[in-house]
Order: sequence, then C-alpha cells, then structure tokens
Amino acid sequence: MSDLKSWPEPVVRVQSLSESGLRAIPKRYVKPPSDRPAFTNKTENQQHVDIPVIDLKNLFSKDPTLHEETLGFISTACKEWGFFQAVNHGVSHELMERTREVWRQFFNMPLELKQEYANSPTTYEGYGSRLGVQKGASLDWSDYFFLHYLPVSLRNQSKWPSHPSSCRELLSEYGAEVVKLGGRLLKAMSTNLGLKEDYLQNAFGGEDIGACLRVNFYPKCPQPDLTLGLSSHSDPGGMTFLLPDHDVAGLQVRKNGNWLTVNPIPNAFIVNVGDQIQVLSNMIYKSVEHRVIVNSVKDRVSLAFFYNPKSDLLIEPAKELVSEDRPALYTPMTFDEYRLYIRTKGPSGKSQVESLGST
Ligand code: OGA
Ligand code: NI
Repeated sequence: MSDLKSWPEPVVRVQSLSESGLRAIPKRYVKPPSDRPAFTNKTENQQHVDIPVIDLKNLFSKDPTLHEETLGFISTACKEWGFFQAVNHGVSHELMERTREVWRQFFNMPLELKQEYANSPTTYEGYGSRLGVQKGASLDWSDYFFLHYLPVSLRNQSKWPSHPSSCRELLSEYGAEVVKLGGRLLKAMSTNLGLKEDYLQNAFGGEDIGACLRVNFYPKCPQPDLTLGLSSHSDPGGMTFLLPDHDVAGLQVRKNGNWLTVNPIPNAFIVNVGDQIQVLSNMIYKSVEHRVIVNSVKDRVSLAFFYNPKSDLLIEPAKELVSEDRPALYTPMTFDEYRLYIRTKGPSGKSQVESLGST
C-alpha cells in the first residue's frame, strides 16, 4: 500500500480548471467508455422511475397503524433500493438552505483562501480534490471539503472554514439535527430487522458514534459526457444523509444495471444505506452503488453527512441475523480499518464490501 502521508502528484483544483475556460478536459478526467454517463441511453422507462419518497411525519406517531405503515415504507426502501428521499424529517428547512448556501459561498471564495485548508491523505480533513493516492489514477470532476463532526475528540473547529463567518455555527447546528435524525432511523431499521430497537445504535457505539461531512463541489464541465463528478462507489460508513443542490440534479443510483438520475425533492434528504449497515444486517440491506454526473451549464453543491460507527469497534453481522441457512457473510472489521481502502484506492464500485466475504 502506498503511504498515506501526501498526495502522489501536485493537486489540481477542478474549479480552477473549469474557470480557466478550457474547451477539452485533461486526459486524467476522461473515463473509459464503459464508465461514461450514457446520455443517449435513456429509455422511456428510466425517466419515470425514481427512488422511493418517504414521509417521516408518522415515524413516531402514537397511532400504531401510522407508525407501522411508515416502518413498512422504510423497510421496503432499505431492502429493495438502499436509497430513499425523506420528507418531514424534522430538520429545519431554513437551516438546510443556509448551510448549503454558506458552503456555496465558501467555494466561491478566492483560491488562496481555500488553499489554507488544503488537505492531505493522512486524515482527509480540509479542502481536497481527489480521493485515493494511486499515482496516475483517473480523477473525478469535483473538489470537496471534508471534516469530522463526531466524536467530539476529533472535532477540530480550527480545521473548519472560518469564512464565511457563520459557517462554523451553522455546521454545529446542522450536524446536531442530522445526528438526531440518524438515531431515529437506526431505531426504525433495527425494529424492521427484527432486532431490539437500540441494537444498531449500540453496535455503532451508542453515544460515541462517528460523523463526518463531505461537501462536494462539482464545477461546470465543458465535456460532461466524457467524465464523472464522482465515480461509482458505495458509501463505506453507516448511513448517508445527502442534501443535494436545490436546482441541479446529478446523483445517479444503480438499479438493475441501469443508472437512474435522482430528481431531488425540495427540502428532502436523500438517505442511503452504507457498507457498515450492509454488514450488520448480513446483507438484508444493501449499500447501493451511486455516482455523480456533471453538466456544462451549472455548478452543483451537495452536502453528504456520514453517520458512522465508532471507528475502533468491530462491525460484524448481528448474531440474530445469522443462521445455518444464512451464515455470516462478512468477517468482522473495524471502520478505521475498513475506510483505508477507499482512502487509498479511491471510489471503486462495490469492490470493497464484496471483498469482505467470509467464504
Ligand atoms: C458522496 C456522494 C453524491 C452527490 O459524497 O459519497 O455520493 O450527489 N455524493 O454529491
Ligand atoms: Ni456516496
């Protein structure tokens, strides 16, 4: 494994490339034909299919019928899609919008100011432009900002942007609300899997969960049909809460071999199951592959909040979900160990979780 101390090559900011006005993208960003977004390949069918939309209003309703109905929707979405859009999720819409806008302003600041936060592959915290440290690797058309929210011992506000001035405060508030939502969904998933209500939360470390934010910035691209904003991957962590751009689509989810473009619903979160929940559920729930396409007209900002297990706990299939007929499909591993893979190799479909198979 290459060492994770520094990037193998000088880092190029995609935003600077985009703003330089070049007509053709550098070769490093050109994907092999099989990975390119097949714009011409959209069938009638695909355009009308979308991930489920779930209203969480009744998740904790006193009325058992309404409560169970909502649990049922979540169950189907987790089993069949690994993805859903959540509305009435309890997080303030105004807070969501302000947080996203503050990050848009961050990326619109002059390059020198952002460079103060330039990251390294040791922790990934800060302003970055690549995932993975393999020299000569294919690159994605995006920049990002990555930070730790939990545990508090890893939360280092001096690594969060000091400008715009409201950024740190908004982030603290935003994170607290999303963490609350994460706890509610873990309960719902535990119940749906036939586990004790607090099973998954405990497996994640109880109060000591990990949480990180990755803010993605996808600049306009002169040749969007040749590249990707983010290559196909499944999220390595527990569960992801994506706040997409309010008016530009880009996220695609893999379903039956096709790539479906998600149409974001205003004020919704796009929620998806990560690899750790796939492992804990012994593959009853699957972390589904997704990727991001870019366009030539508008840049796009998204906030991916990762709700993760405490990083040094062993994660393995719940004993209750292992039987003679369905043996444990994965060997135990800590999340710290697990996430080194994507941090070294970059996004590579579902190859990691598939390599964990215990047989
Ligand atoms: C991610 C991710 C999707 C998007 O950051 O892991 O999948 O739409 N982002 O930005
Ligand atoms: Ni993702």
